[in-house]
Formats: sequence, C-alpha cells, structure tokens
Amino acid sequence: MSIVYLNGKYLPVEEARVSVLDRGFTFADAIYEVIPVYGGHIFRLQEHLDRLNNCLNEILIDNPFSDECWQDIFTEVLKRNQTGSDRSLYVQVSRGVSEREHLDDSDLTPTVFVMSRPVISKDYSDGVSAITHDDIRWKYCHIKATALLPSVLLKQRARQANGAIEAILIKNGYVTEGASSNVFVVRDGVAITPEKDGSVLPGVTRDLMVELLRWKGLSCEETSITETQLKAADEIWLTSSTLGVVAVVELNGAAVADGKPGKLWHKAEELYQAFKIDPSILS
Ligand code: PDD
Repeated sequence: MSIVYLNGKYLPVEEARVSVLDRGFTFADAIYEVIPVYGGHIFRLQEHLDRLNNCLNEILIDNPFSDECWQDIFTEVLKRNQTGSDRSLYVQVSRGVSEREHLDDSDLTPTVFVMSRPVISKDYSDGVSAITHDDIRWKYCHIKATALLPSVLLKQRARQANGAIEAILIKNGYVTEGASSNVFVVRDGVAITPEKDGSVLPGVTRDLMVELLRWKGLSCEETSITETQLKAADEIWLTSSTLGVVAVVELNGAAVADGKPGKLWHKAEELYQAFKIDPSILS
C-alpha cells in the first residue's frame, strides 16, 4: 500500500483525506511539482525545489518548508515506499481550507501533499506521434498550476486525432510547448527551444538538455520557433520529467523528416542517459 505525506503525517493513501473546502478542490488554488527518482537518487532536486519555491512566490503562498525540510519529507516518503524501481515524487501545495470565497484574508495553512509512484516506463525509443493545436491555456504558463483542464483536453484531442501522445501548442503562429512537455526542434544541426517567457513552463529537463548539449559542444539556441519552422523541422523532441527526451516522428499524421528519430536526438538521449547515471559529468 502506498504511503503518502499529508500535512505533517505519513499515512496510507486510502486514509489520506482533504476537506471538500480545500481551495485546491474548489478553485484549483494550488501548484505542484513532479520530480523523477532514478536509482534512489532524486533527480535535479535543487532545480525542482527552486521552481516549487518560485511558483509558491508567484501565487503568494509562503513556502511552508526550507529546502532541507522538503528533502527530509521526500526521503521519508521514498523510504516508506521502497520498491527499487525508478519512481517519481508528486508534490502539491494548495492555499488551504477556506469558505468558498475567491479572496480569503484569514491566515490560511497551506495543504501539503507528497506521494511517490513507480515510473510506468514506456518504450518510446522509436519515437512518438504528436499533433499541433492552438494554445488554449492562460498567460501564466511559467506557474506549475494544478488547473490542468486545458492540458487534459489537449491530450484527449491528441489521442483522438491519431493516437498521438502530445499536442504541440501554437500561439500567434509560434510554438510554445507541449501540453505536458517542452519542445525542441532541430534545423540545420542546431537544436532550438523557445525562450522561457511566461508562455512556457521552465522545464527542468529542458534546462538540463540545453546545458548538456552545450557542454558537449553541440549547438543549442533558446529562441522562437514558428509553426512553419516546426512543420519543416529536421527533428522534433519533447522533454519532461516523465518522458525524458523523446523524438516526435509523426506530426499531424505526416512523417517528421524520414519518420525516424534523428541523429541529434540519439546524441541528446545518450547525454541524458549518461547524466542519469552520473550527474557529476556536468560539474
Ligand atoms: N509536466 N511543460 C508543461 C506544460 C509541463 O506540464 C511539463 C511537465 C513540462 C516539462 O517540465 P519538466 O521537465 O520540469 O518535467 C513542460 C509534468 C511531468 C506533469 O504535469 O506531470
């Protein structure tokens, strides 16, 4: 049985209860994190804690814990769910429980929830299918908000279209990101990913890939990508904590280049796997 952390207690998931008046439930007034755990090591912990802290600041919730306290909670949850497999940590912080008023001026205690799940690893080494779709989300996509209805609908549309796993989003003619991933394209040997303005989540895997590619002496730019450039790209990749880095080999039912993961993707994947085994390669 899975053991989760909820508001200071470690308990079986079936016994974990949150009030129906929790603002996470009534208003999606909450943010979250997903953190991979490979071989028992929490992957890019500091980067995930920094983003968690930034997101809490953005929505005006005081971070309830220091980085050390967060780490202790994560370690304890992992210890109590030991299975030896690769796992992920899910962290959610809501503003707390209040009457259903948009603004509540009382001193609310945030609801803090942490769980850990085994990674359901799918073999995407032959690449995946994606669709393009209008970016129907809000303007603060740098905040990892739990209000994910647009992303859920986009994923449904991707699946309905041609069994695709992701929707690559277009805003005013430019690529932003996937519904739950960041996007890279390769043009003339250069890997390009959109810059981190408010229209994308500052993905931890994205940042790592940028760092790894440059460390290896490969060209990587953070700049805008038009929809036309996406459709003419030599390669398209998706990055996220759950996917790692995967190649998109089919876009809107048409093959991307020769329909196989590209040359640069193979290098990126190799770098990512090498970093998973030994993060000190970057230091
Ligand atoms: N999603 N962009 C969006 C909109 C995302 O939801 C995610 C991750 C990413 C990639 O970020 P990172 O590399 O830090 O995982 C980009 C997670 C995995 C999720 O919602 O489950």
